[in-house]
Amino acid sequence: MNFRPYPTLETERLILRPFVLRDALRVQALAGDRRVAEMTAEIPYPYPDGVAEAWISSHLLEWRTHRQIALAVTIKKTGALIGAVSLRLFAQGPRAELGYWIGVPYWNHGYCTEAARALVTYGFEELELDSVQARHRLENPASGRVMEKLGMRCEGVAPQAGVRNAKLLDLVDYSIPAGNFRVRYPAA
Ligand SMILES: CC(C)(COP(=O)(O)OP(=O)(O)OC[C@H]1O[C@@H](n2cnc3c(N)ncnc32)[C@H](O)[C@@H]1OP(=O)(O)O)[C@@H](O)C(=O)NCCC(=O)NCCS
Repeated sequence: MNFRPYPTLETERLILRPFVLRDALRVQALAGDRRVAEMTAEIPYPYPDGVAEAWISSHLLEWRTHRQIALAVTIKKTGALIGAVSLRLFAQGPRAELGYWIGVPYWNHGYCTEAARALVTYGFEELELDSVQARHRLENPASGRVMEKLGMRCEGVAPQAGVRNAKLLDLVDYSIPAGNFRVRYPAA
């Protein structure tokens, strides 16, 4: 697998850039909010000191070994970090799972959809993925709405497919093949 530099992506209102260690406190504050953490598979709640630093420190190796790309979602005008968007790349083939979170004060402004659309575009155009999938908790319709706005197709509910705090959770699966995304968002 060829090594590529960690990308920075630009959208109308956002810059998606690699995380740096000085983002750690902000990540801890925003991702460590219960309303964010508990809708995700992996963000701990409460969010211990040092976890954000360790997570950010893992990014370069994860990218170089073609396992994951995670970008900081920042507002172009102010530079404020408001969230994260990621693709977990599967070893078995050119597929990836999309993930994201946005800090509560920034919800419902279209930021997640804008960021995710840019990263999925990068995934299809630069990483040559065949398809992108995503899943959300049944009790998280806002995330499902983001997937719908990206043109992803709902594939149904996977009962008790997730686990958090030792509780089994129903998850809703979505996916989109590259061809469908190109039809909807053709390359410029
Ligand atoms: C899911 C999340 C990333 C969305 O971020 P965001 O920047 O607010 O997303 P957007 O503004 O692009 O889109 C949100 C959409 O959900 C809709 N929405 C919000 N709350 C909703 C609800 N309770 N029911 C249905 N739709 C809802 C919004 O109206 C908007 O849709 P619209 O543009 O058609 O009006 C954010 O809520 C979040 O970080 N949640 C916690 C972490 C998380 O869920 N991560 C994903 C795990 S799968």
